[in-house]
Amino acid sequence: MNKLYLGAIVVTVLMLIATYVSFDFKHGSSDIVNQIAILGAVVLVIATIFVVVKYVRQMQTDTVTGELMDENWDGVGEYDNPVPTGWAIVFALTMIWGMWYYLVGYPVNAYSQIGEYNEDAKVLNDKFEAEYKHIVGDKLVEMGESVYLSNCAACHGLNADGIDGQAADLNVRIEKSVVKDAIENGSNNHLLGMEMPMPDRNGLFNMNTGALITDAEIDAVSAFVANGMSGAGADVFAGTCAACHGEDGKGMESVSPNIATYDSALVVNVIVEGKKGAIGTMPKMEVLNKKQKEAVAAYVQSLSN
Ligand code: HEC
Ligand code: HEC
Repeated sequence: MNKLYLGAIVVTVLMLIATYVSFDFKHGSSDIVNQIAILGAVVLVIATIFVVVKYVRQMQTDTVTGELMDENWDGVGEYDNPVPTGWAIVFALTMIWGMWYYLVGYPVNAYSQIGEYNEDAKVLNDKFEAEYKHIVGDKLVEMGESVYLSNCAACHGLNADGIDGQAADLNVRIEKSVVKDAIENGSNNHLLGMEMPMPDRNGLFNMNTGALITDAEIDAVSAFVANGMSGAGADVFAGTCAACHGEDGKGMESVSPNIATYDSALVVNVIVEGKKGAIGTMPKMEVLNKKQKEAVAAYVQSLSN
C-alpha cells in the first residue's frame, strides 16, 4: 500500500484513540452534550486527515503556478494563491466546533466540575434520605432545630424572633408590616413553588364596598391577619382576601398560600426560592437536602403552634 495512505491510517487511528482516552466515560457517556462533542471531534479528525492526504498527494504531482507576491524574504518568495478550499473548510469546522463546545457544550452547561459536585452531592443526599427516613414527629422537629441553628439562626436569631427586624419573626405566622407590604406592592415570591403572583392594591377590590381597598382598610386587615386572623378588619378580609385565601386564611391548593399558620410547603418553598419582601431579602438556601428542609419546616411550624 502507498506509504502515504498507511501513514494517514496510522495517524487517524492514533488520534481517534487519543480522543477516546480523553473522553470521560464515567461522567460523559450518559451525557448527550458530551456525545455530540465526541462525534464532532471524530468527524474533525477524519476530515483533517482526508484533507491532509489530498494536499500531500497534490504537492507530489503539482507544478508551480500563479504569480509571485511582491515581498520576499532574503530572496525566498511566496505565491499569491488563495487558501486551499479543504483547509478553509476544516479550519471553519474546527472554529464552529470549538465555539459550540465552549458556549453550549461541556464547560458552560452539561458536565462540569459543578455537575460532578452535584452528582456527588446527590449520592450523599440519597444516602442521607435513606438513613434518616424513619425520623418523623418530635425527632423531625429536633433535627429541624439543629438545621435551624446552623443555617437560619444567623438571620432569624437564636430565638427565631428575627433579631430586631433583620428577618421575619418566625414565632408568629406573619408580621403586620409583611402583610401590609404584600397588599400594597403585591407579592411574587413563588410561595406556592410556582409563578402565582398576588396583585397589588390596584387589583384588590373590597366586595363589600365595591371599591378598591383603601389605606384604612389595608391597615385594619393587616392587623387582623398579623393578629392570627382575629380582631377588627375581619369584614375587609371577608370582602377582599377570602376569595383567594379562604374564609379562614388557610389558603387554597395551587391558588394561594396559607397566611393563617405556617405550613410545611410554604416554608420549604421559601427555602428553595428565597424571599423578597418588606423586611428584606432572604437568599435561596441551596445547601439543604430534602429531609433537612422538611425538618426545619417542622421546626418552624412547632414555634408558632
Ligand atoms: C387574587 C387572589 C388573591 C387575593 C384577592 C389576595 N391574595 Fe394574598 N396572595 C395571593 C397569592 C397567589 C399569594 C402568593 C404570592 C407569592 O407567591 O408571592 C399571596 C400572598 C399573600 C401574602 C404573602 C404571604 C407571605 O408569607 O409573605 C400575604 C400576607 C397576603 N397574600 C395577604 C393578603 C391579604 C391580606 C389580602 C386581602 C387584602 C390578599 N392577600 C388578597 C393571592 C391573593
Ligand atoms: C441571610 C439571612 C437569612 C437567612 C440565612 C435565612 N433567612 Fe429566612 N428570611 C430572611 C428575611 C430577610 C426574611 C423576610 C422576607 C420578607 O421581607 O418577607 C425571611 C423570611 C423567612 C420566612 C417567612 C416567610 C413568610 O412568607 O412569612 C421563613 C419561613 C423563613 N425566612 C425561614 C427561614 C429558614 C427555615 C431558614 C434557614 C434554612 C432561613 N429562613 C434562613 C432572611 C434569612
